[in-house]
Amino acid sequence: MSKYKMHLLVCGGTGCRASESDLIVENLKKELEEKGLQNEVQVIMTGCFGFCEKGPIVKVMPDNTFYTQVKPEDAPLIVAEHVIKGRRVQRLLYVDPAAKKEVTDSRHMGFYRKQIRIALRNCGFINPENIDEYIARDGYSALGKCLTELKPAEVVDTVKKSGMRGRGGGGFSTGLKWEIAARNQADQKYVVCNADEGDPGAFMDRSVLEGDPHSVLEAMAICGYAIGATKGLIYIRAEYPLAIQRLKVAIKQAREYGLLGNSIFGTGFDFDIEMRYGAGAFVCGEETALIHSMEGLRGEPTNKPPFPAESGFLGKPTNVNNVETLASIPVIINKGWEWFASIGTEKSKGTKVFALAGKINNVGLIEVPMGTTLREIIFEIGGGIKNGKKFKAVQTGGPSGGCLTEKHLDVPIDFDNLIAAGSMMGSGGMIVMDEDDCMVSIAKFFLEFTVEESCGKCAPCRIGNKRLHELLTHITKGNGSLADLDRLKNMSLVIKDTSLCGLGQSSPNPVLSTLTNFMDEYVAHVTDKKCPAGQCRDLMRYSIIFDKCVGCTACARACPVNAITGERKEVHFIDQEKCIKCGACFEKCKFSAVLIS
Ligand SMILES: Cc1cc2nc3c(=O)[nH]c(=O)nc-3n(C[C@H](O)[C@H](O)[C@H](O)COP(=O)(O)O)c2cc1C
Ligand code: SF4
Ligand code: SF4
Ligand code: SF4
Ligand code: FES
Repeated sequence: MSKYKMHLLVCGGTGCRASESDLIVENLKKELEEKGLQNEVQVIMTGCFGFCEKGPIVKVMPDNTFYTQVKPEDAPLIVAEHVIKGRRVQRLLYVDPAAKKEVTDSRHMGFYRKQIRIALRNCGFINPENIDEYIARDGYSALGKCLTELKPAEVVDTVKKSGMRGRGGGGFSTGLKWEIAARNQADQKYVVCNADEGDPGAFMDRSVLEGDPHSVLEAMAICGYAIGATKGLIYIRAEYPLAIQRLKVAIKQAREYGLLGNSIFGTGFDFDIEMRYGAGAFVCGEETALIHSMEGLRGEPTNKPPFPAESGFLGKPTNVNNVETLASIPVIINKGWEWFASIGTEKSKGTKVFALAGKINNVGLIEVPMGTTLREIIFEIGGGIKNGKKFKAVQTGGPSGGCLTEKHLDVPIDFDNLIAAGSMMGSGGMIVMDEDDCMVSIAKFFLEFTVEESCGKCAPCRIGNKRLHELLTHITKGNGSLADLDRLKNMSLVIKDTSLCGLGQSSPNPVLSTLTNFMDEYVAHVTDKKCPAGQCRDLMRYSIIFDKCVGCTACARACPVNAITGERKEVHFIDQEKCIKCGACFEKCKFSAVLIS
């Protein structure tokens, strides 16, 4: 990289910054200066390494040592031991939970072993605020190649042959989309980067923008050249301040280097990028709503056709692509479509970034080849279920994806297999659930989100989702019937069929997939009036086991509604009429005498 003998890479992703990684950088720099090493060792703040569960991360190069859960006060030790004496700080090394052994190099960790990083190739390796570091890792060479060696149609052809499909959820062929936009003649065309990322729990796009903003700028310029557009717009939610700041820095630097602006590489091709900010509505990620929002109109979807490639921003042909789609483009150009197409499954090429969340040991960001199984992701990369609990389900595809079960664990993940299994790829959110999760409540939880986020333009989504939510609430309160389960299914199918945009068309997926895969739980709620996972408060009954109760009175004192009676040293009783099922008695009893049934 440079004149420096050693580099200390500190994660500057949002997760690690929340645990003071900027202070780690400050302390490391201070320590190096005190020891007179500032010209030999460089401290670099990078983007997210992915292994957020173990953050803050510090990586030492060139020996690849990967330190986890580093605190600002560890800086003097890292400098004194690793930098000066060449000895690793054992305490900060990752310990493999199965082998119970320290692993020094991230390439040998279960979390990284099966990953292939294309979109995330630079995240954790470069300082995102330094264009030279991006250039040092082949940055802008793909743009150079396109402008100087390839005709626009050849660029489109390369992307088409690579088999790249949009990572924003729809999975439409990127090359085909570019071809349509290229075909439509107009005095002005636009390239739009969709960085709205509204799915709860998703942070794939944010991480790419925070860790490697130039990859997206370069790809937008390549797309502009391919389709004949000179203007690019990045639509990003205002809640992503770090990504916005890094994009602004990157745009400024790219302009200074002549990589954006007029006559890029002296070829006569002009392209520049501006930012547009969203207010954080999920529906504004839908491309037509996004375009309306950028035009200053209400962020409501409109019927397609016309597609944005025909009539988009200000009525002009507009190519909308997701952040992850774009970040992969320079690699496809540089390494060739054959290389990209050799990764993945027959109909889904390349890799996919997933945000692992929920009851999983290794919460974080991963990128795996298409065709990797859920079992590999959850149990090898993700390290299995938290607290040794049993796996129950995984929700893929964000709030309107489906919940898959044990029987889907060995399905190779790609766009088509996930749809066939009753879910979808979505943008890459993956939420893992364990034995304690009630699937009826989970369906209700996701519907709450879609009800809240529906723009209200069409009745099936606006009213239908609300009715679905009411029915689910009814069931979790113990008031449901078997007929309600039929109603849930029928209404879900109607909403899917008749809603105007993808939000309504997919919002019943959590209901349908849980009905298919967890019908026994629904039946238990409506016929036995029981919640097998013990989560639905209204279906729980607290009682005292006479043989175990010693009359210590702790429960009675804790009960907020005086539902428990009994004399000291005598068996206590719960008045079911008064009990509000708060669980305080269960928590307080040291003799396991409170039974939940
Ligand atoms: C409700 C809804 C929300 C969406 N949110 C996003 C989003 O946050 N980011 C995104 O790239 N695509 C999102 N999409 C998909 C976009 O409409 C569009 O298909 C995508 O940006 C195209 O880029 P791609 O071809 O690279 O995937 C959303 C779609 C729907 C229906
Ligand atoms: S489906 Fe829902 S979000 Fe989409 S246009 Fe209709 S009301 Fe709006
Ligand atoms: S806390 Fe337990 S043992 Fe004590 S009175 Fe209540 S039920 Fe009985
Ligand atoms: S669950 Fe709460 S309200 Fe019911 S008896 Fe126990 S402490 Fe009282
Ligand atoms: S934010 Fe630091 S590893 Fe993800």
